[in-house]
Amino acid sequence: MRALRRQPVDRTPVWLMRQAGRYLPEYRQVREQAGDFMALCRNPELAATVTLQPLERFDLDAAILFSDILTVPDAMGLGLYFETGEGPRFRHPVRDAHAIDALPIPDPHQDLGYVMDAVAACRSALAGRVPLIGFSGSPWTLATYMVEGGSSKNFSVCKAMLYDQPQAAHRLLAKLAETVIAYLQGQIEAGAQALMIFDTWGGVLDPIRYREFSLAYMERIVSGLRATEQGRETPITLFTKGGGDWLPWIAETGCDAVGVDWTTPLDRARAAVNDRVALQGNLDPCVLHAQPAVIRTEVDRCLREYGNGSGHIFNLGHGIHPDIPPDHVQAMVQAVHELSPPYHDVPARTATP
Ligand code: CP3
Repeated sequence: MRALRRQPVDRTPVWLMRQAGRYLPEYRQVREQAGDFMALCRNPELAATVTLQPLERFDLDAAILFSDILTVPDAMGLGLYFETGEGPRFRHPVRDAHAIDALPIPDPHQDLGYVMDAVAACRSALAGRVPLIGFSGSPWTLATYMVEGGSSKNFSVCKAMLYDQPQAAHRLLAKLAETVIAYLQGQIEAGAQALMIFDTWGGVLDPIRYREFSLAYMERIVSGLRATEQGRETPITLFTKGGGDWLPWIAETGCDAVGVDWTTPLDRARAAVNDRVALQGNLDPCVLHAQPAVIRTEVDRCLREYGNGSGHIFNLGHGIHPDIPPDHVQAMVQAVHELSPPYHDVPARTATP
């Protein structure tokens, strides 16, 4: 929490995107017990169990709620399902202005109550050990799945909508922004102590469309949350994968921290945001396939690139892959803890007479 606010810390904090997931055998076991992935998300006690699993193994500095960004379009009636090996799918994709205007704005407590209950269950299970991060997808990233009907290679259907029917696209994104504000506000009230917005597909847009259709709506969410008392105090991290060239714009939204993928070195990222926000990242997830000695060298490089002082939250540049050996995660976390203290040489506090 101090690093998010760029206040002094003794060492660089570390957590991993997708830290609870298939690379952990104990996760696979609980998912089996739940039946499938969405059943696991809908069971607050089991969601809390898997949220805490990585903390039992590794000395991590944060927990992230176990859930998914696609719970939101599911609650809007799109019918989410997972086809084995093919990722997420929607039974009722949103393809035209008529379908957009018919979309309801879900109530977080009624329609997504299981997420609020999972947040509360995680907070209670954590008992103050580390802070809990809540999250949402960005309106643009959610819209890509809603319009394409699932994952996509080149995003041709939803990008065509931006060019051909910009007004309809804006109505969809405005509805999603309103939904996400209420959803994240609900997570804060249920106990989330920091928030992250995943804009996984912002980087597929050209700079003009990125500002107009992705960044503008993330900015609206930040302002909407800031307008409430708790929202003012809860740090918000924005992460646009592939957004390295746009870091100064992202930093201007009023967020507290910006996620950086591995294609932008942290020294360049830090100069680009001019120390106005904290930075989260940015080890290439593929480094974790390498030997522990290589992992240590690459961790060292990331820490050195960020440089001295607070405001760095160590993470991967995107989610961990399902085939990473847990020992390699251990090597990464240990390296961050062992190698980062010299970067936080805080002047000794003078004793009061
Ligand atoms: O980071 C965390 O540990 C918190 C939990 C979390 C999950 N998904 C769990 C999950 C978070 C924050 C997400 C976000 C998410 N979901 C994003 C944005 C971040 C990113 O990774 O880019 C996106 C695009 C999704 C949509 C989604 N959900 C995809 C593409 C998939 C993968 C499908 C597959 O088969 O690989 C999911 C499923 C999913 N979400 C899993 C997990 C642990 C795997 C489900 C399983 O098989 O157990």
